[in-house]
Amino acid sequence: MNTLQAYFKAPSNIALIKYWGKREIQIPENTSISFTLKNCVSKTKIICKNRNADKNISVFFEGKNNEKFVPKIEKMFQLIKPLLPWINDYEFEVHTENSFPHSSGIASSASSMCAIAACLADLNNQMLKKNELNLNLISEMARLGSGSACRSVFPNIAIWGKHSKIPFSNDNYAIDANNFLHENFKNYCDSILIVSNKEKSVSSTAGHGLMKNNPFSKVRFQSANENCILLLNALKNGDYNSFIEITEHEALTLHALMMTSTPSFMLFEAESIAIIKKILEYRNETKTPLCFTLDAGPNVHLLYPKNYKEKVHEFIKNELFQFCYNNEVIHDEMGNGVEAIQQ
Ligand code: PMV
Repeated sequence: MNTLQAYFKAPSNIALIKYWGKREIQIPENTSISFTLKNCVSKTKIICKNRNADKNISVFFEGKNNEKFVPKIEKMFQLIKPLLPWINDYEFEVHTENSFPHSSGIASSASSMCAIAACLADLNNQMLKKNELNLNLISEMARLGSGSACRSVFPNIAIWGKHSKIPFSNDNYAIDANNFLHENFKNYCDSILIVSNKEKSVSSTAGHGLMKNNPFSKVRFQSANENCILLLNALKNGDYNSFIEITEHEALTLHALMMTSTPSFMLFEAESIAIIKKILEYRNETKTPLCFTLDAGPNVHLLYPKNYKEKVHEFIKNELFQFCYNNEVIHDEMGNGVEAIQQ
């Protein structure tokens, strides 16, 4: 076989209903819902050749050979084998870079695993002489790299995890949820307030693992599934108030779960709390429909409708910059999901 190559970009996503707790193999304990972002992306090229050596994966991050990422990608490729039986017969050079600064403390696993999965799906097409990209296959392979990555495939909004009341929802891959988006939620914005540039104090794998013995986990999985339906109703009806209430409740629940695990983790910094208080005050005073959400770390995501962009940017500059590490804020918004890059 000649050398084949594929080149894709994939975005990060921000969960509104959080996935926290899983079973083998990357099966979520509850359904989750996320907005797909536009500017926080990974661009990944994979070059694939017949295998000659024992070691079949090398990774180049931002142009430099990077051994640290190899084990995670090797594990992903092993899990993908039942879907792409040829995968062990080839060797792969993975060249990847992120649009967001390395020092921003933003987890890149969703975007990078999704971009890798898209490249593999494209290589599969090249081998089988097929044209159409199979988004479900990309999402399923991305999930095997990092659970939340499976939601990054689809534009704007995606749902992952089987839910008895959401048709087509399933545990293997995410589904497109654009049919739930009222005009009010189109082009929604997410300004990411960078509080710390440190690596996460607890890995996602360890965090998910803590849910096994967390005394509140059963109630949590049930309430997440109930929140999914409430959130989808809010999105469908253009109902900002319910959206805000559910989104903030989910963010605080994620952190409360970490605080009530053994061992326990406090993922906030003092600045995260200061920012949250300012957001609540500003919303009370101005009635602007903005709200916060959080990942498993101290950075705060500020979500708001696009027509409030100028006003909210002004608020960030005047009130929130002071709490951000190096005044760093990444302005993002809903985006297109996975896309091929012309070579
Ligand atoms: O995809 P993972 O295993 O890194 O888990 C991510 C979990 C959260 O980002 C905290 C929530 C989510 O649903 O994205």
